[in-house]
Parts: sequence; structure tokens; C-alpha cells
Amino acid sequence: MEMKLAPSMLSADFAHLSEDLRNAMQPGVSYLHVDVMDGNFVPNISFGPPVIRCVRRILPEAVLDVHMMVQEPKRFVNDYQRLGVDMLTVHAEATDDLEGTLQSIRADGMKCGAAVSPGTPVSVLEKVLPICDMVLVMSVIPGFGGQSLIPGTLDKIRELVRLREEKGLGYDIEIDGGVNLSNLDEVLDSGVNVIVAGSAIFGGESIPRNVQDFLERMEGKCC
Ligand code: DX5
Ligand code: ZN
Repeated sequence: MEMKLAPSMLSADFAHLSEDLRNAMQPGVSYLHVDVMDGNFVPNISFGPPVIRCVRRILPEAVLDVHMMVQEPKRFVNDYQRLGVDMLTVHAEATDDLEGTLQSIRADGMKCGAAVSPGTPVSVLEKVLPICDMVLVMSVIPGFGGQSLIPGTLDKIRELVRLREEKGLGYDIEIDGGVNLSNLDEVLDSGVNVIVAGSAIFGGESIPRNVQDFLERMEGKCC
């Protein structure tokens, strides 16, 4: 599987969003990770369509990986398609119709992902794995950037790697939350291939330097 880096714009400085995003989306960076929070599925509100429309204008070529932390996300699938979103990931815990939601994302021509919060077992995804382009494993409680990675969540990645092999499937596995340069090697050893990083990329002295450090460490790794 190809290794991919996805900076999470939740940790950008919204007072100069375009500058931060251009600094983060260096050559070699695969996706921009976009966290949509509704204040209901998670106890926080981030941003929605008006901001994403501007991001699409600033970065017309970027692959937008939208992580919907929203209750009943099926209501919004069509809106996000019209915004030019490439990939829409929804939480297993946020709907009783995960399969139907993923199918409607695909029907709208976007790639689809299914996400699990730390307390949710991988088994809830078993039925939908064949239609997933990506599975997102939350390694922190969803809702806020800057938390510490919960180590036990890496076992879920190993399980997803095993299931992918067993079933002959091709989904990407994305980890989201608390990844930084200190735990990156351990994270990569789990077999994950899409790395989301928010505070570790937008924090510190230099966004381009942070991105380069991540890319260098990920180069040559495969899973
Ligand atoms: C948390 C979001 C994450 C967050 C990651 O609910 O889904 O994408 O921005 O931020 P860090 O890397 O700082 O944990
Ligand atoms: Zn996220």
C-alpha cells in the first residue's frame, strides 16, 4: 500500500488559513484532512461547507479527505459532493445505515471511508469492508486536536490489515489522532498507510519543516 500523509487543517491558524494550507500541502503530501464536527456527534463544532468552499478555491488540486464527525451524515452527502470533496468518511457510530450511507457516497462519485471511535470494535465494519475505499481508525476520542494517542487502538489497525489480507480487499487504513514524530515509527509498524497529523504539522516553528520530517520518516516504509 502507498504511504500517504494527510495534514489535518483543524490545527491550522484560521486567521491565515490560506498561508498555512499552502505551507502544508507540499509536493509528496497526499490529502488535506478536513474535520467536520456538528456539536452533536462530538462535543465540538469546527466548520462546514462555507469554509470548505474557500479551501477548494485556495487549493484547486488538493485531494480533500473529509472526516464527518456528524450525526446521520447521509443528509449531507450531496452537499459535499457539490463542494468538490474527493473522499467522505463517516462514523459507524453516527448512523444505523452505514452501508446505505457509504453507498450513497459512492453513487455521488466520491471515495468512501468508514471510521471507528476508540471504543468501537472493528467487527461493526465487517459487512461494509468490501465497499470501503478507506477505514479510519480514531486513535483519540473524536472532537479535539492535540490529544495523546491511545496505544491500544493500534491493535485495531493490525486486525484491519489481517482482515484485508484474508478477504482479498484493498482499502487504505488511516490513523487519526495524536500522531507525532516521536511515535511515528511505532504507528507505521502497525501496518497503517494513511497518516493524519494536525498539531504535529501546524504546531512548532515551521510547517514546511514538519511536513518534510514526516515525509522523510515515511519514505521507504510500506505495509
Ligand atoms: C480529532 C480529529 C483529528 C485531529 C487530529 O477529532 O479527527 O483529525 O485534527 O489532530 P492531532 O494530530 O493534533 O491529534
Ligand atoms: Zn479527523
